[in-house]
Amino acid sequence: NILELAHENDIDLEELISFLLKIEGACECSCACSTCHVILEDSLYDKLEEPSDEELDMLDLAFGLTETSRLGCQII
Ligand code: FES
Repeated sequence: NILELAHENDIDLEELISFLLKIEGACECSCACSTCHVILEDSLYDKLEEPSDEELDMLDLAFGLTETSRLGCQII
């Protein structure tokens, strides 16, 4: 998961968790909106598991979608 990746890559866990908790999602992490859209660096994106079909459907609705977009609530 993303916390393990942060640890492996010497990313400050407190900063990462603080950032992720500030993401305000409208659906409370039920994968029913795209308000928690985040754009990840390639190196981090490549290390995560593939997004689910439900996440991909919601990402299609996200503003500014990129090839490394994810829903923040689905990767923590
Ligand atoms: Fe709605 Fe993440 S908060 S999908």
